[in-house]
Amino acid sequence: MYENIDFNSIDLTQEPPVSEPERQYYFIAKCRQYVKEQEELAGHPLTADVVTFGCQMNARDSEKLSGILEQVGYTLSDSEEADFVIYNTCTVRDNANQRVYGRLGFCNSMKRKNPHKKIALCGCMMQEQNVIDKLKKSYRFVDLIFGTHNIFKFAELLCRMFESSGMIIDIWKDSDQIVEDLPVERKYPFKSGINIMFGCNNFCTYCIVPYVRGREKSRRPKEILQEIEKLADDGVVEIMLLGQNVNSYGKNLEDEISFAQLLQEVEKIDKIKRIRFMTSHPKDLSDELIEVMKNSDKICRHLHLPLQSGSTKILKAMNRRYTKEQYLELAAKIRREIPDISLTTDIMVGFPGETAEDVDDTIDVIRKVGFDNAFTFIYSVRTGTPAAAMEQVPEEEVHAGFDRVLEAVQETARKQVARLQGQTLTALVEEVNEQDASLVTGRLSNNTIVHFPGSADLIGQIVPVKLEECHGFYYTGHRVEETK
Ligand code: 5AD
Ligand code: SF4
Repeated sequence: MYENIDFNSIDLTQEPPVSEPERQYYFIAKCRQYVKEQEELAGHPLTADVVTFGCQMNARDSEKLSGILEQVGYTLSDSEEADFVIYNTCTVRDNANQRVYGRLGFCNSMKRKNPHKKIALCGCMMQEQNVIDKLKKSYRFVDLIFGTHNIFKFAELLCRMFESSGMIIDIWKDSDQIVEDLPVERKYPFKSGINIMFGCNNFCTYCIVPYVRGREKSRRPKEILQEIEKLADDGVVEIMLLGQNVNSYGKNLEDEISFAQLLQEVEKIDKIKRIRFMTSHPKDLSDELIEVMKNSDKICRHLHLPLQSGSTKILKAMNRRYTKEQYLELAAKIRREIPDISLTTDIMVGFPGETAEDVDDTIDVIRKVGFDNAFTFIYSVRTGTPAAAMEQVPEEEVHAGFDRVLEAVQETARKQVARLQGQTLTALVEEVNEQDASLVTGRLSNNTIVHFPGSADLIGQIVPVKLEECHGFYYTGHRVEETK
């Protein structure tokens, strides 16, 4: 366990170990010296800022980056004025990419004023060759670039960055290596994400994820459970199991285990009070999982089930491998079995070939399922995916469809959220309200937010709250003594 490692006693006159994670422990020790030297030159303690784009997987990766940065001697900061800034990028849609380029320009203007400043880039966007070419050509001021498969090597790469004056680039095409037991700095003391699998094998025709995150690899259940136990001992009460497609968890393991079985094992960990997971693919969602959720007190009443489109024709072109009717049937079954569940989804508008009638189908599904919330996206062309070569929909049509979808989503979500009015449900208190310090903000099992009077000492506690007033997408209420 890395907590038991005395980094100061590692002999740096020896060659670095070949095996992981010992090799990274060696580089953490070495990097501490570099940070100390830099600190003396700069005349102040060095600060580091991790800027995260994208999904929960990236948020978890950023906690790993932060863990290493703290171990090597940086003080974490929330400002891009820091001495070390790393952008953990997303490339699922083009606007995320454009934002990174914008931020890089801004960061470079600060680098000109601070000669000790270092800039790094990692994450999904770095797995694309055209991005690397562009960075090499026009962003020479970036000090370190690495990808999604070798993030565990961060300490080693930091050392190389300190030893070199040029741009360090280390991108792996794929990897079957999963390196455990490295430092992690959690954003919240009481909740944590945990990777249960990496990569994706689905190849939806619009999606770049399989190209940048590689093939599906499940972590072994024993390692997952050990990590959760450790988190629980450290004060975590809510855990979120993360994977691009958690429903196919376990398929590539020697001892085959289903996702539902894994959930049952996690439930046995006493101190864990709430279990969430992300993301489910409708085609792989099993009856076994519905049954396990239904009978569980710990698995949260929330399922995120990306629809993408309600048109069978478009779903086929997307290679989603379900029809409109199959999705509707699945959603109805889930609502029937677990009536208090909240169903949320992702919807995309403007996929090649999509007509106004296809959008009507999407709206029909939105109304029939009654989603509690939905993330709506405009289709974005991703180089190298099959859909990039298909005929694109004119922009005005896309926007008209998008507006209609958004309106339908808001209408059903409002209705769905309002149905909790007057109920008393438990909320995990996450923070003091940002606008009003007399309130705290909690999250219900079904993921709805509630604000109620309370103070910081409630943070991390699960308390019953009466939901008094619905304000569209969140509630205000009061803490009560008993849950009904
Ligand atoms: N364009 C727009 N949205 C996309 N998504 C994935 N790829 C694209 C794309 N090329 C959306 C999907 C997915 C969510 C994470 O991002 O809806 O579920
Ligand atoms: Fe973005 Fe997908 Fe990478 Fe997450 S896995 S950061 S959504 S590209």
